[in-house]
Amino acid sequence: MTTHAPHTAQARHQKLSAEIKHHRDLYYNQEAPELSDAEYDALEQELRALEAQYPDLHTVDSPTEQVGAEISSKFAPVQHGVPMLSLDNAFAPEDVADFEKSIRRFLRLPPEEALAFAAEPKIDGLSCSLLYVNGKLVRAATRGDGRTGEDITENVRTIKDVPHVLSGAGHPERIEIRGEVYYPLADFAAMNAKAAEEGGKVFANPRNAASGALRQLDATITASRPLRFFAYTWGEVIDGPEPNDIVDQIEKYQKFHDRYPTQTSVLKVFREWGFQVNPRSATTENSDGLLKIYEAIQRDRSGLGYDIDGVVYKVDRLDYQRRLGFVSRSPRWAIAHKFPAEQALTYLKAIDIQVGRIGTLTPVARLEPVNVGGVVVSNVTLHNADEIARKDIRIGDLVRVQRAGDVIPQIVGVELSERPDGTEAYAFPTVCPCPLKTAVVRELNLKGEEGVARRCTGEHACPHQRVEYLKYVVSRKVLDIEGLGEKQLQKFSEEGLIREPADIFTLEARDKTSLTPLRNREGMGETSARNLFKAIEERRQLPLDRFIAALGVKGVGETTARLLARAYHSESAFRDAMTALAAGDEEVKAALDNMDQVGPSLVAALIDFFSNDHNVGIYERFEAQLTVQDAEAVAGDSAVSGKTVVFTGTLEKMTRDEAKAQAERLGAKVAGSVSAKTHIVVAGPGAGSKLKKAAELGVQVMTEDEWLSFIGVA
Ligand code: IVH
Repeated sequence: MTTHAPHTAQARHQKLSAEIKHHRDLYYNQEAPELSDAEYDALEQELRALEAQYPDLHTVDSPTEQVGAEISSKFAPVQHGVPMLSLDNAFAPEDVADFEKSIRRFLRLPPEEALAFAAEPKIDGLSCSLLYVNGKLVRAATRGDGRTGEDITENVRTIKDVPHVLSGAGHPERIEIRGEVYYPLADFAAMNAKAAEEGGKVFANPRNAASGALRQLDATITASRPLRFFAYTWGEVIDGPEPNDIVDQIEKYQKFHDRYPTQTSVLKVFREWGFQVNPRSATTENSDGLLKIYEAIQRDRSGLGYDIDGVVYKVDRLDYQRRLGFVSRSPRWAIAHKFPAEQALTYLKAIDIQVGRIGTLTPVARLEPVNVGGVVVSNVTLHNADEIARKDIRIGDLVRVQRAGDVIPQIVGVELSERPDGTEAYAFPTVCPCPLKTAVVRELNLKGEEGVARRCTGEHACPHQRVEYLKYVVSRKVLDIEGLGEKQLQKFSEEGLIREPADIFTLEARDKTSLTPLRNREGMGETSARNLFKAIEERRQLPLDRFIAALGVKGVGETTARLLARAYHSESAFRDAMTALAAGDEEVKAALDNMDQVGPSLVAALIDFFSNDHNVGIYERFEAQLTVQDAEAVAGDSAVSGKTVVFTGTLEKMTRDEAKAQAERLGAKVAGSVSAKTHIVVAGPGAGSKLKKAAELGVQVMTEDEWLSFIGVA
C-alpha cells in the first residue's frame, strides 16, 4: 500500500471517491463499465486503506458508506424491508486468516471451539430481492442503493429459476429471498454474436447483459433472455401474522432462525421451496479449509458456465451472525474473497489532461485498445503528476494494464526493456489546458502543505471548471434538470448565458427578449426549449439539501449537504449560521465540529466559501430565485433511535463493542461519559462513578437484561 502524508491523503481521497462514484454509475445504471472488476476493486481497496489510516476522511459521503449506485428513475422505487448490503473484500490468504481471527475475537471464541463457515461462489450478476407473501411472489426489486431498489417484478417473473409460488412447506408469512440474477456464458456469447451481426447492442460482459435484460421496461424482452437465478440469502422474514410492534417483529424473525440455525440449513430449505442454490456451496471449519475451497473453485472457474468473481465466506451459525452484526455497509460475518486481477500489455499513445469541477487536473492515459480479461480498455486514469513520475510513464511506452473485480483499470507499470529510444519523461503541464491558460498550482492542505493534486487557479473563470460545476448543479442529485447537456452548458457558459446557478432560473425571462432564443438554436427547437423551461420552473421549490449541494462548496456533496440541511433545518437558519461562522463565531464552529461526520476540512471549506463576497453573491442571487424548502425531521423507528446511551460496568451477555454496535444499529448514539444529554445508562456489575453521575442527573439506568428487553432482543 502507498503511504500518504495527511495532505496528499485528502486529495487522493477526494479523487478516488469521485472516480468510484463515476464508475459505479457507469456500472450499475448505464451498463457500460470502463474498468475491469479488479481495477475497480483496487480503487475501493485503496480508499478503504486511506480511511483506515486517516479516519477523518471516513465521512458519510464516502463511497465506502454506500452500496451500489444511486437508483435510476426508470422503475418504481421499492423500499427494502431489510437493507441489501455489500460485502467486504479479501484478496490475500492473510486477509482470510484475519477474517477468522477477528470473528473469534469478537465472539470471544476460544481456539478449541468450532467455528463453521459456509463458502459459496460469488456470482457476478445482479442481486435481486424477491418478496413472497404466503408463499406467493408479490414483488421483485434490484438492490439500488441498498435501501431503495427498483421494482422489476414483471421482468423477474419471466426468469425460469424464480418460482411464482413456493413449493414445499413451512414458508414464513412474509419473506424476502435474495440472490443473484445472471446470464449464462454460452447464451451470452450467442446473444452478443447475433447482436454484432445485426448491429444491435453488444455488451461488454454477461453481467451488463443481465442488467440490460432485467431493466427493460418491456418484460417480453426480458422473457426472451435466458436469465437464471441463484438464491443465497434472505432479507425481511416475518413468521406468523403481521407483527404488532418491533419487539413482536423481532420475535417472529427469531422463529425463522430457530428453525434454520445455519446458512447451510437455509440453503437447503431454499432448495425445498423451489430455488436453485449453487451446487458448489460447501462448509468447512477454518480459514485453511476456506482457502482450499477457494482454490478448487478457482481451478474450475472457467467450466462453471457463468461468471464468478470470487468466493463468499459466511459464518455458518445464524446466532453468531446475529451477534456479529454489521459494520456500516457490510456484515462482519461474511467476506468476499476476490480472484486476482487480470493483466495485459499495450502501448500508451497519449496523455490527456482533464479539468474537474474544483480545478483538479487529472491525467488520462490513451491506450491502444486492449482486451484485459474480457473487457476492452482504452482509457485509464493516471491519477496525478506524482503517479506518472513515480512509475516514469512515458508516451510511447509499452505498459502493463490491470483490471480486477468490479473496478477501474490501472497501469501497473512500464516494460522498461521495451522502451523505445528517444522518449522523454512526461512533463506535467504548468498551465490549464483551457484557452485562459491559467497557472496551475499544487494543492495545499489545511496546514498549508503541498498535496499531489495540481489545480487550475482560475476557479469559475476557467471554462472547464465552470462547465464541470454547472454540469454538477443540473445533475440528477442536485437540481435534476433534464435537457441541459454538457455541450449546451459549454455553449451557454461561453456566451455568458449561464455562469452561475441563478442564471438557470432567469434563462426563460432573458430568452424572451433574446435575439437568438433557444428555440431557434441548433439542437434545441421549440419543444425542447419549452420542456427545458418547464423542467427549470419545477425546481423553483428546492429542498434545502439540494440547495446546499448546488452551492459547490468544496467537499460538500449530496450526503454532507443532507447532513447540514438536517442540522440547520431551514435556509435562513443555515445562512445565519454560515454568516456567523465566516465572521469567526466560535459557537457555530464548535457545533459543527461536534457534528458526527464533520471534519476540520469541511469546516474550513465552509468558512472559506462564506468569507468570500463573490460566493455570497452567488448564494444570494440563487436563493432569490427559489423557495427553499425546510429539511424534514429524521424519522426514528426503534425504541432507542436518537437516544444517547452509555454502557458502564461489566456486560455479561456480550462484549462492549458488540453492545455498542448493536445500539448504533438501532439508531442510538453511544457515548463514553454521562452528561445531561445522556438518555440511558446501561450498568453492569462493578459500575462506579458513571452510575453515580447518572443518579445525580436523574438519567434512566437499566441493567443489561432490562436494556436487552427494552431493545427487543432478550
Ligand atoms: S451474500 C449482506 N452470497 O456480492 C450481504 N452475495 O459484494 C449478503 N453476491 O450484493 C450477500 N454471490 O450481489 C452473497 N453467494 C453470495 C453471492 C453474493 C454474489 C453478490 C451480491 C452482493 C455482492 C456483495
